[in-house]
Amino acid sequence: MNATTISAFQSLETPFYYYDKSLLQSTLKTIQDEVSQYDDFHVHYAIKANANPQLLPLIAQAGLGADCVSGGEIQRALDAHFPANQIVFAGVGKTDKEILLALEHDIFSFNVESIPELLVINELAQQVNKIANVCLRINPNVGAHTHTHIVTGLAENKFGIPLADTEHAIHLAEQLPNIEFIGLHFHIGSQILNISDFTALAKRINELQEHLEGQGVTIKNINVGGGLGIDYANPEQTPIPDFKAYFATFAETLILRENQQVHFELGRSVVGQMGTLIARTIFVKKGTNKKFCIIDAGMSDLIRPSLYGAVHKVKNISSASPETRKYDVVGPICESSDVFVKDYEMPETHRGDLIAIMSAGAYGEVM
Ligand code: LLP
Repeated sequence: MNATTISAFQSLETPFYYYDKSLLQSTLKTIQDEVSQYDDFHVHYAIKANANPQLLPLIAQAGLGADCVSGGEIQRALDAHFPANQIVFAGVGKTDKEILLALEHDIFSFNVESIPELLVINELAQQVNKIANVCLRINPNVGAHTHTHIVTGLAENKFGIPLADTEHAIHLAEQLPNIEFIGLHFHIGSQILNISDFTALAKRINELQEHLEGQGVTIKNINVGGGLGIDYANPEQTPIPDFKAYFATFAETLILRENQQVHFELGRSVVGQMGTLIARTIFVKKGTNKKFCIIDAGMSDLIRPSLYGAVHKVKNISSASPETRKYDVVGPICESSDVFVKDYEMPETHRGDLIAIMSAGAYGEVM
């Protein structure tokens, strides 16, 4: 964010999300460059991370498919011209209306999370005379080193079909007349920076595939989900995540069969660093033991700090004063949890100063 951009912010009403489209473009270019080295790799952008209609067309134009978790997201994807045959649709609670929308547009795949869901998709597909492509989402019981609220691949989580039920689910899918079984789907969690978590997933997939082959099952598509994390502590030093290492991990570990296709569902790593929440300081006040910097953005604008205790880097972009103070940077909402950061060192801050909350492009505006 340069001085011209910051001075342009002065006349704007706050709070607002600032999206750096050129960083988004460089991130997309890095992804394309890495993925193009592997013939069988396909990336779907996880729209749940940021569904802003000004950004989606840029992501679609870069050649990514879309990963959706609601009918609304499918509609946004179609409006942004993501090809329907590159849309995948996950979620534990797909409604009939959402399933029908997906059937109408012949999406690439339903990522099916339970047997009851499989039966309903078959029934609805029968009613509208369609064949639904299905990947079964298997809960691989692989942990991830991340916040407990965003671990999804453990047996105790609500996501996916239990590993032990995989064969039964595949056989059922193969028997249902309006279902085409096209592969398996996995997702172990989000904000994963420990690359060995992905190695563990790939190894679990290898074991499962070997076992299923023994039962005569062929898997055309393997969807490994998303989860690659971003550097919240140093966004300026690491604006683009290490996609090279991420894709290489799967390329080196997953044992692929002929013509098998691998799908990725990346959200945070695509849009996280290009977004900043810009707010204005309303008051600076002294408490008994603390100083509070009260800004005009709150947990209703960015809920991650109060929901997960997530720490986003905060900057006073109006002041370069060498004098620093410790502040609790808080929002205006009548909730004690409406806090962005506590005891946070910033240049001496005054009423009217602009405050930037960094790395807010993913799971910010959309939540
Ligand atoms: N695929 C599936 C099936 C998912 O559930 C998710 C995210 C993704 C892909 C994309 O994951 P990503 O690449 O963005 O890590 N609101 C939380 C994050 C929730 C993630 C939910 N699932 C946060 O603000 O940290």
